[in-house]
Amino acid sequence: MSEIRYDGRVAIVTGAGGGLGKTYALMLASRGASVVVNDLGGASDGTGGGSSMADEVVKQINESGGKAVANYDSVASPEGGEAICKAAVDNFGKVDIVVNNAGILRDKSFLKMELEDFFRVIAVHLDGSVHCTKAVWELMRDQGYGRIALTTSSSGLYGNFGQANYSAAKMGLVGLMNTLVIEGLKYDIRVNTLSPCAATRMTEDLMKPEVLELLAPASVTAGLLYLVSEDAPNRAILAAGGGTFARAAIYETPGIHLKEEDCTPEGVAAHWDAITATEGQTEYQSGSDQTVNLLTTAARSLGIDLG
Ligand SMILES: NC(=O)c1ccc[n+]([C@@H]2O[C@H](COP(=O)([O-])OP(=O)(O)OC[C@H]3O[C@@H](n4cnc5c(N)ncnc54)[C@H](O)[C@@H]3O)[C@@H](O)[C@H]2O)c1
Repeated sequence: MSEIRYDGRVAIVTGAGGGLGKTYALMLASRGASVVVNDLGGASDGTGGGSSMADEVVKQINESGGKAVANYDSVASPEGGEAICKAAVDNFGKVDIVVNNAGILRDKSFLKMELEDFFRVIAVHLDGSVHCTKAVWELMRDQGYGRIALTTSSSGLYGNFGQANYSAAKMGLVGLMNTLVIEGLKYDIRVNTLSPCAATRMTEDLMKPEVLELLAPASVTAGLLYLVSEDAPNRAILAAGGGTFARAAIYETPGIHLKEEDCTPEGVAAHWDAITATEGQTEYQSGSDQTVNLLTTAARSLGIDLG
């Protein structure tokens, strides 16, 4: 297989001053992309800020012959998203790739979590991805090309104690992808979501040293690069960690139609096994696919011809 390259492409990587984002920026640049290295430079809980994290990555890229500029705006405001996009256009003339990676953590059980901490996490992960994607969307539509990566988490896909804020934000990103894929289709804007697992400052206190070593951020990077490549898939949720890659997806059971007399809470309870039986489950490609299944199942059961 020929090498996957990004020559002539302009990429924005948010939160690229450290952790996973830094590896994405370095590898994209080493394969020919011009990169905007965005990072607010604060602590893992989103407090503070500074320019040194982004500057250091830019220095590394430039010293190895790549092209990069730093940006220190926060993704959490619409103005921040616009400024990050402007940095790409001012320095490199366009935007082909956006890697929405910036993130913070404010873990606490839902019972003890302050709403401020709930919504701050949403503001960085979900709103932040919206701001940066919105800022480039029209430009990508006009040029008929775009590759957007969003960053979800096993915490969003499946849950994790103490991370209600983070889980809600991360699953919100999957919903964002699902619709952007549909709206971007005819302009060759592809949107994919990465669910990484890596030893970074976000996770280093949670794992043993030998596990941390196996989960080096570099073991994830290749997956992200494929998701924003010329021949990228579309609508994929790629799990990546320790060099293992897997695809996550949402499936829906075929379901059953209940006769009018069974359309009661008791009827639903009595048929629960059939409603939830997974044989023949489907991965829908749009919300209307679900509507079609609900209607055709009902029509078939009632002997109605919907035409
Ligand atoms: N490490 C993992 O195992 C793991 C698992 C699932 C998801 N993720 C996700 O991967 C992404 C990268 O995380 P990481 O593990 O590399 O952590 P990290 O803390 O090393 O990286 C996050 C970066 O985002 C930057 N940032 C934070 N708020 C910002 C803002 N408002 N604007 C711009 N930059 C901001 C930080 O300064 C930091 O450099 C995050 O979205 C995270 O939720 C990581």
